[in-house]
Amino acid sequence: MSGHTRFEKLLEPGYIGSVKTRNRIIKTGAGMLMWHKDDVHMREEVKAFYERMARGGVGLLIVESPTIDYPLGARWRQRYRIDDDKYIEGLGKLVEVVHKHGCPTLISEVKEYVEITGKGLTIINKEGERQVIEADIPS
Ligand SMILES: Cc1cc2nc3c(=O)[nH]c(=O)nc-3n(C[C@H](O)[C@H](O)[C@H](O)COP(=O)(O)O)c2cc1C
Repeated sequence: MSGHTRFEKLLEPGYIGSVKTRNRIIKTGAGMLMWHKDDVHMREEVKAFYERMARGGVGLLIVESPTIDYPLGARWRQRYRIDDDKYIEGLGKLVEVVHKHGCPTLISEVKEYVEITGKGLTIINKEGERQVIEADIPS
């Protein structure tokens, strides 16, 4: 027997730029939607959920997409918000519990409601309202 398995690479370390992962198992940015729009402090159940994944051995943990502009960009109100510095402390606590288990973590960016044209960006909220930010974007 060669000792090689079909999924051998899966358990080998990987790199994304300078970020090293202990294996190639990734939790995607799929939303758990466990927040409330008024949350400022990190929820215990959110920390527990992500910490268990990190402790379980995931190589890279992508935290779901945040609301970057409230209320215009809030497609779902159960996403965490990053439209003010007051959310930084809670996010720091989330990062701490994930890092504790040797797992890097990234935030997934919301992009599905942004149209990019040569004239700029159009942000579309869930009611279909459009906000145009003019910019000269080379094609
Ligand atoms: C319910 C649900 C919520 C998701 N939320 C996000 C999200 O917040 N951010 C993101 O980048 N991707 C999100 N995704 C996309 C996933 O991260 C993933 O890219 C997608 O499901 C494709 O992977 P799959 O083929 O393994 O399902 C979501 C997917 C699902 C099913």
